[in-house]
Amino acid sequence: MQLFYAILFFISFLLLSLMCLLFKRGNLKDKRLPPGSMGWPYIGETLKLYTQNPNTFFSTRQKGYGDIFKTHILGCPCVMISSPEAAKIVLVSQANLFKPTYPPSKEMMIGPEAIFFHQGDYHSRLKKLVQASFLPSAIRGSVSEIEKIVLRLVSSWENTTINTLNEMKKFAFDVAIISAFGGRSDLETEGIKHLYNCLEKGYNSMPLDLPGTPFRKAKKARKLLNERIKKMIKRRRESQKKGGGLLGVLLESKDHKFNNLSDSQVADNIIGVIFAAHDTTASVLTWILKYLHDNKEVLEAVTREQEKIRWAVKEENRGLRWDDTRRMPLTNRVCSFKFPQYWYIYDHCQTLHSDPPRTPHTKY
Ligand code: HEM
Repeated sequence: MQLFYAILFFISFLLLSLMCLLFKRGNLKDKRLPPGSMGWPYIGETLKLYTQNPNTFFSTRQKGYGDIFKTHILGCPCVMISSPEAAKIVLVSQANLFKPTYPPSKEMMIGPEAIFFHQGDYHSRLKKLVQASFLPSAIRGSVSEIEKIVLRLVSSWENTTINTLNEMKKFAFDVAIISAFGGRSDLETEGIKHLYNCLEKGYNSMPLDLPGTPFRKAKKARKLLNERIKKMIKRRRESQKKGGGLLGVLLESKDHKFNNLSDSQVADNIIGVIFAAHDTTASVLTWILKYLHDNKEVLEAVTREQEKIRWAVKEENRGLRWDDTRRMPLTNRVCSFKFPQYWYIYDHCQTLHSDPPRTPHTKY
């Protein structure tokens, strides 16, 4: 089977190379373009990016070409930037010249009607709805449920070695589910986690739509996920109450002509937001734990703060409450990485975040 794919790939590659030789690809000799390599015809440097650690891919090019370099990924000519000055131009001072886009394979995987792929009125409407569902005040009522998630997770770590990122993903996923659906109903969320895992693997893999590839598996998972969410939507639309969480908010929403969002619009956004919320949050939490581990003084101070609250909770024989979470100034400061707006644009923001001369404010 693998040999078959190799041959198929080789033939496609030859054909594409021939096409690219016949049709001139833009004016890539233009001296004003940033330095860098556009790789092979059509596939560009996609294979290189997917077959090595992304950090290595970026850092070798950064060393060779500087903070701004050109490349070609997933069928798109790209300029990669890793200097705050350039990022500021793209995102702030000249932001009107740029439009946020995603490769078509990623758009198809998340759902074309999700917020990420839109601008204008539809985008603003969704942004307001999503923000409202994820505000700290919106999760006020979920403190005890989140506490249960944490306690369950922490007790599963006893006498075993864990992979921090994987555990943070479990945590962030369960919390994202609460925010998306307004609570954890096993009936509604059963099986969704497994489908998300498949979706995530395919999303981050080479978009080869062939039997057995992570991409093909992710497409199947996406279809099943869609069916499940649509069933939930139907159940909620039929009942008098639209329910809580982002799903409830999306179902209630009406535009200025009193039109509801369609089932596909609701489903694509639920799938997309859970996707956007869980991996990113898990990754930030993992970095927080790493930096706490590396900064013993801060770790001790945060532990003292947490122990004080734990002691009060135990003393009063109760669970964690919202007001307890407001009495963690140091913990909150540690968790609030300063993410200036312009940081968000990097595909490889990790390089920037861990570069001390450039980011002194990430130090505690
Ligand atoms: C610390 C964790 C997070 C990081 C690092 C992060 C990072 C990002 C980045 C880089 C973008 C793309 C911005 C752009 O294309 O202009 C984005 C967009 C988005 N993220 Fe996050 N994210 C995080 C947490 C979350 C959470 C918890 C949610 C839950 C609602 C979320 C929902 C979204 C949405 C809805 C968008 C699209 C915004 C728009 O199109 O206006 N993210 N995020």
